[in-house]
Amino acid sequence: MSQARSNQARSNNAQPDYNHTLDPQLDPQLDTGLDPSDWPTFRDQGHRMLDDMFDYLETIRERPVWQPMPAEVRARFRGRLPMAPTELGAVHEEFLQNVLPYSNGNVHPGFMGWVHGGGNPAGMLAEMLAAGLNANLGGRDHAPIEVERQIVQWMRELFAFPATASGLFVTGTSMANLIAIVVARDFARDAAQALDVRRAGVAANSKKLTGYASMAAHGSLRKAFDIAGLGSDALRLVPVDAQHRINLAALRRMIQADRSAGNAPFLLVGSAGTVDTGAIDDLDGLAVIAGEERMWLHVDGAFGALGMLAPEIAPRLAGIEAADSLAFDFHKWGQVPYDAGFVLVRDGELHRKAFASPAAYLEREAGGLAGGSPWPCDFGPDLSRGFRALKTWFTLKVYGLEALGQTISRTCELARYLEQRIAASNELELLAPVSLNIVCFRYKSPNADRVNARIVVELQESGVAAPSTTRINGELAIRAAITNHRTRRADIDVLVDSTLAIGRAIAPPIEDPELEAAYLD
Ligand SMILES: Cc1ncc(COP(=O)(O)O)c(C=O)c1O
Repeated sequence: MSQARSNQARSNNAQPDYNHTLDPQLDPQLDTGLDPSDWPTFRDQGHRMLDDMFDYLETIRERPVWQPMPAEVRARFRGRLPMAPTELGAVHEEFLQNVLPYSNGNVHPGFMGWVHGGGNPAGMLAEMLAAGLNANLGGRDHAPIEVERQIVQWMRELFAFPATASGLFVTGTSMANLIAIVVARDFARDAAQALDVRRAGVAANSKKLTGYASMAAHGSLRKAFDIAGLGSDALRLVPVDAQHRINLAALRRMIQADRSAGNAPFLLVGSAGTVDTGAIDDLDGLAVIAGEERMWLHVDGAFGALGMLAPEIAPRLAGIEAADSLAFDFHKWGQVPYDAGFVLVRDGELHRKAFASPAAYLEREAGGLAGGSPWPCDFGPDLSRGFRALKTWFTLKVYGLEALGQTISRTCELARYLEQRIAASNELELLAPVSLNIVCFRYKSPNADRVNARIVVELQESGVAAPSTTRINGELAIRAAITNHRTRRADIDVLVDSTLAIGRAIAPPIEDPELEAAYLD
């Protein structure tokens, strides 16, 4: 095209007429591809699907939290490859019959297991828009990447990170922890050699790199050490205090012991909300030690970091702004539909160096679609990436951060209410201090581990409430992680009353251990 014509095309912002090529005479195979040939019918069906999902959310309280999947339903997922087409409406019907009633249940206010967010309707709609755009956020120059960059900037602001910090959406905090540990590992080789470890591998390091996290830290950190080639044993687990926070004196001793043994301590991990009890490590104290020891400070704030949005929790996170990296999820306390993990790295250039990988087919240009470098694929292992940022952008904008902060505060109030109900009952006992939104307790019984494991299964299978279990000092606890924005006091009452009812039914036997054992078997 001549310069003049190309200029004219640009100035007209010309819309080419592609339809002239769509001539059935010239192209007898012409069809609509995978798009519907009958848009009005498809549109009606689409609206029905949307309405059904709105109904589901609106009437969620009328359903069981969770129900086991009957064998015949499970068997329906063992079908042959669907070579022939099935009508959209028929597949949706299968979804309504076989998938929807047997989902995880974390949308329900009675779900209190693990640390699962409840999602939100605006985020759900944004997921549909994102799927319509079908954007690939690995790179290139397009608006969806600007949406992600906007959230990176908001997160810098929220956590008081510098303008040079980088951020990236990932599946969840497990992946965010891994990315942070890889950056820290490369940094540990010292900045001048940062790229060397990528080429030569960790084995080229003459000293063993060691990291430190509390015994209450999440298992994904050990996994990350393993995947990063450091070995899971290189993550030293530091004892905790009575509040389940990392013991700083013990930490200092362990670092010195490793130095004396010729190892290279490089990483401290602080937990902002431990998975078992919601304990927040002394992040300020960790930042001081990281500075003195010239070590990288990573904070695992999977759910707790967004406590920054709640005025009474934010001061307890003091020190988070000093972290070299921070991992957290929007899909937990942020209520963004799964999945929406995030990693923030103070030194964006170090982050880029740890992952950027030049390739001919990823060449960058000053203009055109290949502009806009650096790209998100330069900051993590994924090349193709979905548009997680959109459901997060919608959630933050539609509800506003104040309202999201209030939902976080309310889950903590509910945890305190549950704590009070436990304290008021002589049949229940608390097993760990309540720091945020997580309550660990049990029904008292001489056979407490088996009784409480059974109570949790019965609660889940009855569909009235879904806590999970964990072990506190070796004892099995019923663990209620109140994360869902829909949960209310009435749901806590159902949990407590049902726990007591099931406990009484299976444990009259405090005086009769044999009868109890017979029931439990
Ligand atoms: C403290 C902590 N870290 C990491 C994770 C892992 O997060 P994800 O499940 O998003 O990978 C969790 C999950 O509950 C967590 O509570």
